[in-house]
Amino acid sequence: MNVLVAYATHHGATREIAEGIGATLGQSGLHVSVEQVDRTRDVSGYDAFVIGSALYCGWLKEATEFVRRNRATLARHPLWLFSSGPLGTSPTDPQGRDVRTTAVPREIVELGNAVRARDHHVFFGAYDPAAKPVGFLERAFRLVPNNAAILQAGDFREWGEIKTWAATVAGELATDRSADGKGVAPAVDPTRVTEKETGR
Ligand SMILES: Cc1cc2nc3c(=O)[nH]c(=O)nc-3n(C[C@H](O)[C@H](O)[C@H](O)COP(=O)(O)O)c2cc1C
Repeated sequence: MNVLVAYATHHGATREIAEGIGATLGQSGLHVSVEQVDRTRDVSGYDAFVIGSALYCGWLKEATEFVRRNRATLARHPLWLFSSGPLGTSPTDPQGRDVRTTAVPREIVELGNAVRARDHHVFFGAYDPAAKPVGFLERAFRLVPNNAAILQAGDFREWGEIKTWAATVAGELATDRSADGKGVAPAVDPTRVTEKETGR
């Protein structure tokens, strides 16, 4: 089974999440390609998709365009979405709201429905203030004083969570294959992810 893990990034944190997801899927016996969305020309050779974007006031344009452009093909296959965004160590914002929920971009609901996504998962991201801003929006966003509270410097990605989520994707694909009578791919056991692997 061929799986495409496609991602959009400005500074590489989302690429590394995509590579982590790809590694776990590969360990489950799936044939995995991890590619930047704007380098993927043809989606016709894949049986399943995982598509993710960094959050910069929503998904990056190239990621939403990729999904819209390929929606007919994508909707016919098992598909999962992810975003990499929230910064910091707190699961809630000052108003007590779950940051993984408030981070969900509005267009994701529409996009997810259009391609019948099985799940959309928000992962914590990473931010290095020393990295040169990419594009006007990022430059302008950094200059707004109120945004300083959002832009916490550091790497907040939780590798154990990323692996566990990817293992769930692999498990669902194995179940699909089993129902198709094509045999079961060995899934990575999510319970084997130790706390050490969370990186915190
Ligand atoms: C200018 C700017 C805007 C951001 N906007 C959001 C946002 O709207 N929501 C969010 O959850 N995270 C936001 N973030 C955090 C990024 O999504 C996070 O740093 C992400 O992991 C970056 O991924 P990348 O390295 O792949 O580009 C923003 C970061 C920057 C620098």
